[in-house]
Amino acid sequence: MGGSSRRAHPTTHVGLLLVAVFAAALAVTTMTCVDAGVTSAYRRQLLASVDMPLDSDVFRVPPGRNAPQQVHITQGDLEGSAVIVSWTTADEPGSSKVLYGTSKDKLNKSAKGSYTRYQFYNYTSGYIHHCVLKDLMYDTTYYYTVGVGQTERQFWFKSPPKVGPDVPYTFGLIGDLGQTYDSNITLSHYDSNSNSGALLFVGDLSYADDYPFHDNVRWDTWSRFIERSAAYQPWIWTVGNHEIDFAPEIGETEPFKPFLHRFPTPYKASNSTAPFWYSIKRASAHIIVLASYSAYG
Ligand SMILES: *[C@@H]1O[C@H](CO)[C@@H](O)[C@H](O)[C@H]1NC(C)=O
Ligand SMILES: *[C@@H]1O[C@H](CO)[C@@H](O)[C@H](O)[C@H]1NC(C)=O
Ligand SMILES: *[C@@H]1O[C@H](CO)[C@@H](O)[C@H](O)[C@H]1NC(C)=O
Ligand SMILES: *[C@@H]1O[C@H](CO)[C@@H](O)[C@H](O)[C@H]1NC(C)=O
Repeated sequence: MGGSSRRAHPTTHVGLLLVAVFAAALAVTTMTCVDAGVTSAYRRQLLASVDMPLDSDVFRVPPGRNAPQQVHITQGDLEGSAVIVSWTTADEPGSSKVLYGTSKDKLNKSAKGSYTRYQFYNYTSGYIHHCVLKDLMYDTTYYYTVGVGQTERQFWFKSPPKVGPDVPYTFGLIGDLGQTYDSNITLSHYDSNSNSGALLFVGDLSYADDYPFHDNVRWDTWSRFIERSAAYQPWIWTVGNHEIDFAPEIGETEPFKPFLHRFPTPYKASNSTAPFWYSIKRASAHIIVLASYSAYG
């Protein structure tokens, strides 16, 4: 795995997904006789490390009036020709529009999304925007801008090649990331591998639930922390036990509430009935996402 940064809180939820992912990887490997080899000798340290403090550089709010923060993308359809762009504005809704295009200085397409908010005990979220960019060309670099009309921020991503039986593609794999100093080292190590086109995130995201009242401010800090990668390549989400956020003792009885508001998945494209269960195709891989902490039908 790319990095289990939270040894202090081991969890065991990822078995099913890993079986699915590895089965897919194995099938591809066997068919094409590819040996990806060893990509690096990196090993995270075994000792548990502590969470980065709230005033850490990686949690900094971007400057500017109501500036979009916590920008991240995920695949938006079954075969990779759509992307869901998500971001949060803190002070007022602002625009849910995304401007995008293939030329950095001429974003001649636009898509309109919408925003949501939620409360968790005494925490109130910012305005969480989600916008789907559809009908993208394959294997193409797209630039996109959020914060239209206020503080605009521009990012880019590369769409995947068209799905096929023998299409090389490199995935990253991270789970259990959290927001410790070691989480930052894990992410920096991942960033340094420029080959990877998308990240399979195998559950346990922010660990906000370790805090009293599941302090959801730690969901915001986590999402700002991962922006440096997740705004530029899709992170494919699976939930683990740390996303359940079921806390009847403080009146919070809707499982997965923070996750569901913040991290959309393209589950409808695979005819799934719930965001925790879905599949996507990307290059030569058919990735099946299963969630052992949610009921299924
Ligand atoms: C948008 O810009 C791209 C890149 O310059 C160009 O290829 C495309 O034709 C333009 N589309 C429209 C609708 O103007
Ligand atoms: C939420 O409640 C806790 C416990 O009473 C308190 O420490 C915290 O400051 C409160 N947060 C907000 C945003 O009111
Ligand atoms: C996190 O890692 C980045 C990149 O290596 C570094 O610039 C930053 O100072 C680190 N922050 C913390 C709090 O460790
Ligand atoms: C989803 O269901 C529709 C309608 O039955 C069908 O046309 C489509 O092929 C299904 N998609 C997948 C990925 O199974």
